[in-house]
This record gives sequence, C-alpha cells and structure tokens, in this order.
Amino acid sequence: MTKIAPSILAADLLKIKKEVKMIDACGAEYIHIDVMDGHYVPNITFGPNIVKSLRSVTNKILDVHLMIKPVLNYIDSFLNAGANIISFHPEADQNHQKIIEKIRNSNCKPGIAIHPNVKFQDIKHLLNKIDLVIVMTVVPGFGGQKFMDSELSKIKDIFEYRKENSLNFEIEVDGGINDLTAKKCLNYGADILVAGTYIFSKKEEKYKHLIDSLR
Ligand code: DX5
Ligand code: ZN
Repeated sequence: MTKIAPSILAADLLKIKKEVKMIDACGAEYIHIDVMDGHYVPNITFGPNIVKSLRSVTNKILDVHLMIKPVLNYIDSFLNAGANIISFHPEADQNHQKIIEKIRNSNCKPGIAIHPNVKFQDIKHLLNKIDLVIVMTVVPGFGGQKFMDSELSKIKDIFEYRKENSLNFEIEVDGGINDLTAKKCLNYGADILVAGTYIFSKKEEKYKHLIDSLR
C-alpha cells in the first residue's frame, strides 16, 4: 500500500507536538523532516534538535531529508537524534560511500534525493547502495510549489531500473503533491508520497480524509 509522509515544513510549529500526534493517529507512515541550510537551498529550517524532540512524541519513521552542503559532518548528529531514514543530495557532497556506510552502520536507512536538475543517469550507480530514493517534483527549498510533470519520467526510469536489477529501495516523491498529482506519481511507480501544504493548510479534522485521499 502507498505510504504517506506528511512534511512538517507546512505544519503549525507552535503546536508541533499536537500536529505530529494527529498525523500519527491519522495513519501516516512516515514523518518527513526537511532540513535546509541556507546554502544548498535558499531557505533555513530545522536541525537535529527537532528530530530529537519528535522522537519523543512518535514511534513513526522519522524520514529526514537533508538539503544541506556539505553532508558528511552532520550525519552523526541526525543519527544521534533518532532519525530512521537519512537522505541527502549526492551533488552536495562527494563522500557518497562514507555517508551511506555511516548511516547504515548505525541501523538507519540511507537515501538519496534527486534535484530536478540532476539526471537519472548521474545517480543510477548509487541505486544499489541505498534504501530510499526521493524524486523531487519541485526545486527544493520551499513548500507550496507547483508539481513539475517533467519529473514523472524519472519516477518511471527509477521504477524500471529497480525491477530490472531486482533491487528493493523505496521510491518517494516530494513536492507539490495533492490528490491529482498523487495519482500520476502512483501510476508511474511511487511507493511513498510526501505532502506538506496539501495536508497542513487545512483544518486538523480533515487530516485523516486528506491522507486517505492520497492513497
Ligand atoms: C521542498 C521540500 C518538501 C516540501 C513539500 O524543498 O523538500 O518536502 O515540504 O511541500 P509541499 O507538499 O507543500 O510541496
Ligand atoms: Zn522534502
């Protein structure tokens, strides 16, 4: 079944504990945490401290999406904070092997995130080393952007590559997800849908319905 990963970037941070408990109770499988450094992307968000705080309020998978450059030096702090999955953008740090090993050795799952400007051919060699691929369907940096249909073929390429090579990683799609774009992503082979604005811009009574509408 399709997994849903609400992105807390769009949540009300004044009541983040309640927000996360709500989406947990509404059946979301992952909690997506967007880490931005004002350098790899032109926006600043959360650090390991929020991962640590959320770890104490939910047992759901903490899905950390690092939009930072460099990457390697920060992995330990996210591991110690209790992340379950840590994904990075391969073009932001060349120490791919070291980053992936460090994450795996700590019983955490390594992932890569693919910027719309990065081609499938350029990340293909990493696909047998990771557990999650995030296909970005917006330029990373902000929530609430329009879904890029141009990235759908990348989902398909990755889906087919996984089948041809009998690999097991999950395919997550991130950016501009709503009930209509979700359908397209699932048709092209997505396993997990990240959704920020679509869920958190509505009243909390609607979270359950919104999450269900994406599956
Ligand atoms: C964008 C982030 C996304 C973002 C998605 O850089 O990686 O996870 O929170 O937000 P929506 O669902 O609003 O496009
Ligand atoms: Zn993200």
